[in-house]
Amino acid sequence: MIVVRTVSELRAALSDRRGGAIGLVPTMGALHEGHATLLRASRAQDDTVVMTIFVNPAQFDEQSDLAAYPRTEDADLALAEREGVDIVLAPDAAEVYPPGFATTVSVTGPIAETLEGAERGRGHFDGVATVVTKLLLAALPDRAYFGAKDAQQVAVIRRLVADLAIPVALVICPTSRDADGLARSSRNTRLSPEERTRARAIPHALQNVTDAAAAGISDPEALRARAVAVLEASGIRPEYVALVDPVTFAPVARVDGPVLVAIAARVGSTRLIDNTVLGGA
Ligand code: PAF
Repeated sequence: MIVVRTVSELRAALSDRRGGAIGLVPTMGALHEGHATLLRASRAQDDTVVMTIFVNPAQFDEQSDLAAYPRTEDADLALAEREGVDIVLAPDAAEVYPPGFATTVSVTGPIAETLEGAERGRGHFDGVATVVTKLLLAALPDRAYFGAKDAQQVAVIRRLVADLAIPVALVICPTSRDADGLARSSRNTRLSPEERTRARAIPHALQNVTDAAAAGISDPEALRARAVAVLEASGIRPEYVALVDPVTFAPVARVDGPVLVAIAARVGSTRLIDNTVLGGA
C-alpha cells in the first residue's frame, strides 16, 4: 500500500494501473467497520482499490463539529492495509482547496435543500458535492463506493454524477450496524455509555415504522408519529423524522411504493442520522 498526499502523486501511481478496474472509497477517516465494508466491496470487484482520507472543512456547518471530528490517521492506514487497499490519498486542505479556489459544485432542489440540507445549511451539500467531484476527477475510478446511511448524500452524488456525465458507476453499500442495531458512524465514539444505550431508540424507531407499514399502515403522519414516540420515550427529540420519495426527496402522501424514512437526532451533543427504505427499494 502506498500513501500519497497530492493529486499528481495519485495520478502517477494510477498511470500504469488504468488497464484494470479502479475502485474509489472516499472517507473522512476515523474508519470503522462500515468503511471496511466499502473497502471489501471494492476489493472484491476492482483491480486497484484507492481510498481517500480527507476531513473536508467545506461540508461542516459548525466549526466545533469540524474541530471535534476524530482524526486517527495511523489507525486508518492500518485498517486500510488490512483490507488490501492499494493506494491512499490523504491530502491536506491546501491541496484540495489551494489559494484562489473559487469553484462550487451545487446541486439544487429538494434532494440538497431539505432535511440535512435544511438542518445543516446550504453549504453542507455544496461542500460534499464539490469535494466528491474533485476526488472523482482526481482518481477517475471505474466505481466509487458510498454507504446507504447517508441517503441524501447518495442522492446528491447520483445527481451530480448524472448531470456532469462523470463516467463512474456508483456502488451503494447497505448501512453497517452494530449488534444492537445502531448504525456505525465515526460520531458514535463521542457517545457516553448512557447516550449509546439511548441511541438505540433510532434503529428501534425505524423498525417500528417498518413493522407498522408491513402491517398495513400507509398514512405517513401516523408512521412518523410512531417513530417520534419511540424516540421521545428514550428522551430523544428528533431534528426530523421524514417520509420522502427516495429519489426526489419530496414528501409522500401515502406509503404505497418505495419510501425513505429518514431520522436525524441529537443524543446528548452528538448528531446522528439513520434511515430505512419501506417498500423494498
Ligand atoms: O461520507 C463521507 O465520509 C463524506 O461526506 C465524503 C463522501 C467522504 C465526502 O467528504
